[in-house]
Amino acid sequence: MSKKHTSLISELRGKLKTCDSSHELSNIKSYYLGKNGILADEFIKLKSVKLSEKKELGMSLNILKNEMQDLISQKLNLLSSENDKDIKATDVTLPGKNISLGSRHPIAITINDIMDILGSYGFTSVEGLEIEDEFHNFEALNISDNHPARDMHDTFYVSDNKLLRTHTSSVQIRSMMVAEPPLKIMTPGKVYRCDSDPTHSPMFHQIEGLHIDENINFGHLKGTLIHFIKEFFGKEMQIRFRPSYFPFTEPSAEIDIKFKGKWLEVLGCGMVHPNVLSNVNIDNKKYTGFAFGLGVERLTMLRHSITDLRMFYDNDISFLSQFKDLK
Ligand code: DAH
Repeated sequence: MSKKHTSLISELRGKLKTCDSSHELSNIKSYYLGKNGILADEFIKLKSVKLSEKKELGMSLNILKNEMQDLISQKLNLLSSENDKDIKATDVTLPGKNISLGSRHPIAITINDIMDILGSYGFTSVEGLEIEDEFHNFEALNISDNHPARDMHDTFYVSDNKLLRTHTSSVQIRSMMVAEPPLKIMTPGKVYRCDSDPTHSPMFHQIEGLHIDENINFGHLKGTLIHFIKEFFGKEMQIRFRPSYFPFTEPSAEIDIKFKGKWLEVLGCGMVHPNVLSNVNIDNKKYTGFAFGLGVERLTMLRHSITDLRMFYDNDISFLSQFKDLK
């Protein structure tokens, strides 16, 4: 390379050394490599040199051109990788991002608690179908076609004979039809009724209990449920059994608890009606049993003093996160 060209290279090196922005670099690039730049000027000289010098000058010019291009593109890479570093740099002094953990829904917490308690009494969990037929939801439970109790159920029909189950009592029937006594089951699940206000929702949860064996009597029912309520609320509650009526139990009762000075109903129960046992081919002379059905939303509302049941379904994080510390 000619002396002139070598000095142009060192001049360029000097400029690149102090260059620290891509804007400046692009100015340098057009100064040397641009259409009317230094390199172009040097190439023009090629036309006027003697033939004997042309070859040498041409070679020197090519080296000059390559070297200039290399130096500029190296600098370009350097600047852009420094830029990347700036972007990716992590400020370790910044506070970390909070990962907020979800929590169980209060209804799920109540279901788990109830199942833990009943499970410890020997009840095993069974799930049935949410779309039921009239036989399992009504007829087999001693609620015949024109029984007035059907009106109380505000049923959603899917088709003529298919409906959204109105209670988990239908699972009693399904279970008794496939298993021989003794039978001791609890059946958590969703149920549906065409009803909506602060204390009713078209979909809610129930847990049904059923215990069938020889010599089961009302004392077993009372013992089980009194114990259950004490464990669920975590303390001795004032409680009363009030005579009631359900087509599928005889005798039937409802349990009320004293809550803020008022008696409030918490569950229905009774001795399984002999007709129900015979409907599922269980010998009602040999076997007896008790059943109960409780509303999960209702128990959760009582436990946490919640006044509007619809809050359970609004998915409002500030409401739901209050149950975070419960298991
Ligand atoms: N199935 C009733 C309802 O949804 C609740 C119920 C009451 C269930 C008494 C029972 C029972 O098993 O014995 O209103």
